[in-house]
Amino acid sequence: MKIAILGATGAVGQQMLSCLEEQNIEITELKLLASARSVGKKFLFKEKEIEVEEAKENSFEGLDIVLGAVESDMSKRFAPFIKKSGAIYIDNSSAFRMNENVPLVVPEINGEDALKHQGIIANPNCSTIISLMAIYAVNKISKITHIVASTYQAVSGAGVNGINELENQVRDIMENKKITSEVFSEQIAYNCIPQISEILENDFTAEEMKMQNEGRKIFHNPNLKVTCTCVRVPVIRSHSISLSFKTEKKLSIDEIKNAIKNSKGVKLTDLPMPINTSNLDLVEVGRIRKDEVLDGYALWCCGDQVRKGAATNAVQIIKCLK
Ligand SMILES: NC(=O)c1ccc[n+]([C@@H]2O[C@H](COP(=O)([O-])OP(=O)(O)OC[C@H]3O[C@@H](n4cnc5c(N)ncnc54)[C@H](OP(=O)(O)O)[C@@H]3O)[C@@H](O)[C@H]2O)c1
Repeated sequence: MKIAILGATGAVGQQMLSCLEEQNIEITELKLLASARSVGKKFLFKEKEIEVEEAKENSFEGLDIVLGAVESDMSKRFAPFIKKSGAIYIDNSSAFRMNENVPLVVPEINGEDALKHQGIIANPNCSTIISLMAIYAVNKISKITHIVASTYQAVSGAGVNGINELENQVRDIMENKKITSEVFSEQIAYNCIPQISEILENDFTAEEMKMQNEGRKIFHNPNLKVTCTCVRVPVIRSHSISLSFKTEKKLSIDEIKNAIKNSKGVKLTDLPMPINTSNLDLVEVGRIRKDEVLDGYALWCCGDQVRKGAATNAVQIIKCLK
């Protein structure tokens, strides 16, 4: 298989490189594409050095799969050229997620949707993947009708620059220097920012609406009601989500725990924490209890958003196509 990573130098692109190797994808050619700034940088894949090339209109000729790890504007710019080349584009940005003819896929949940693609397959939003991974097995025994979510999102969700900003601010505070905020709108060191992305007309942020809209598409349930608050926290890696949900049928806590315990890609644990799920593909779920207000259930889950929330999920989608 001939594969390219578009955005190979970024947080997700670098993780894709490892995931391709870990998941034993048979590769005859691997191209690493990024901006002109990165030309000449070298990365190891299966002990072989590969040099980064500048992504251009004709970079995709002869490829089978392009894994996208660039922002939405770049994704929209390159998608027509990828389509023209005949390669399947598995995109991590939000550019095409809600398009009717673009499957939005979490392999454990709706892997078969990938086969309906017309050239583009979208990887869902990272918090959406981690949240739905936690509850997809419950949704199988009784349809989930309502979700209330609050996310605690790591700085690496904003890419390599997000990590640098947190580390620089912590260092500057320790050295009594003035801090600068460029990636995040406010100071992130020793703080929480209850806004990720722009605020829309309905007072939700774009990030919060991704969780609401994408959940319905992945669960094939247009009536699913979701509300969400997304918060950036000073954690390097791994998002956490506080989830309350209601099902059509009443279930016991034991039924919920058993369903989650037996779901692929998920680990039931007492106290999931981002520090423990960093650099893991598994989503950890715990603190399962009744939610008396919603007349449903509440839980806490954590997952590495660069891995299962992005790179791992995208590489698993390749396997759905076989
Ligand atoms: N980080 C996460 O946790 C996460 C999770 C889920 C989804 N995503 C999504 O995944 C995508 C990548 O995110 P990221 O966090 O990996 O971002 P990132 O660390 O900022 O990396 C961005 C990548 O895009 C490349 N790029 C920028 N301009 C380009 C151009 N003109 N032509 C070709 N490549 C260009 C960069 O190359 P240079 O190094 O050459 O600039 C770099 O490889 C985004 O759509 C993001 O929303 C991210």
